Amino acid sequence: AGIELTDPDLTARVTSGLARVEELLHREVASEFGFVTEAASHLMQAGGKRFRPMLTLVAAGVGPKPDSDDVITAATVVELIHLATLYHDDVMDEADVRRGAKSANARWDNSIAILTGDFLFAHASRLVAGLGPEAVRIIAETFAELVTGQTRETVGPRPDEDPIAHHLRVLDEKTASLIDTCGRYAGMFSGCSDTEIAALRRFGRAIGIAFQISDDIIDLGSADSGKTPGTDLRAGVPTLPVLYTLAEPDVDPLLRQRLAGPLTDDADVAETAAQLRTGAGMASTRQTLGSYATRARAALDELPPSPAVDALAALVPFVLDRTR
Ligand code: FPP
Ligand code: MG
Ligand code: MG
Repeated sequence: AGIELTDPDLTARVTSGLARVEELLHREVASEFGFVTEAASHLMQAGGKRFRPMLTLVAAGVGPKPDSDDVITAATVVELIHLATLYHDDVMDEADVRRGAKSANARWDNSIAILTGDFLFAHASRLVAGLGPEAVRIIAETFAELVTGQTRETVGPRPDEDPIAHHLRVLDEKTASLIDTCGRYAGMFSGCSDTEIAALRRFGRAIGIAFQISDDIIDLGSADSGKTPGTDLRAGVPTLPVLYTLAEPDVDPLLRQRLAGPLTDDADVAETAAQLRTGAGMASTRQTLGSYATRARAALDELPPSPAVDALAALVPFVLDRTR
């Protein structure tokens, strides 16, 4: 998942923690209705990096009680919430594929995908209730932020709004908010101080946005991302390199026309991606990515050194390197 574990104690704790999360996840997808169980396990079994549970478990290593049951529950809750949003997001995006498998809406239909998202959300809510009212309030606020981000993306920038600021705000709300909560829960349930929790939250926000920006860059093609380049370009999804390119004073008219879409021809897509990769918009994108990476690093520098902090720190070069 990008989190490299080298310290043996940390590796053992995170590995056994992930196994417990996996067990809890399997328990939570069981329904009295076979088709719901099937639909709810579908994406879980399709794969997924379990990035959020992993981050939660690693970050819990900052506190004195990294092994608490509440840490495991919290790590399961964030993955269930994430999964729930994927079912709904694929309905909204009319996506056919998720995690290399058919999306639930494509495999079944929209109603089943929506119902399954609600089912997972209901189960996450029940689990989080066991973590107490503060945890419930936090997840409620996070959930509201996810929905706001999804809505802001759907509505698009106002005519007087900078599309780049709008894009970054959407990334912050629809992705970074949940990563923030991973760090926050990890800190809360492992017994961190308020200052440490604040640092873990700041780290989560920054690395969450950095990760999304690196995804935007990868869409233009890079080494071995395991993704089909140009997917966003074809779909007309405004990514950060595209937005920065369009903000340049003298954009090549053909490029501008192509970016206005529709872009379907394979050769056109490849040419456009190549042009974007080498343009000034890409340089600005990398600069912005770098600034979030620096912010993530700076947040960790406020924490006492430990193997857990080292593992979190390794995420920074990982996010930068995956765009090379
Ligand atoms: C993925 O973005 C979308 C999100 C991370 C947030 C989705 C949030 C909701 C659907 C809110 C409502 C959820 C529920 C359970 C009521 P993307 O489409 O850019 O990424 P992708 O490439 O992974 O599809
Ligand atoms: Mg989507
Ligand atoms: Mg979406």
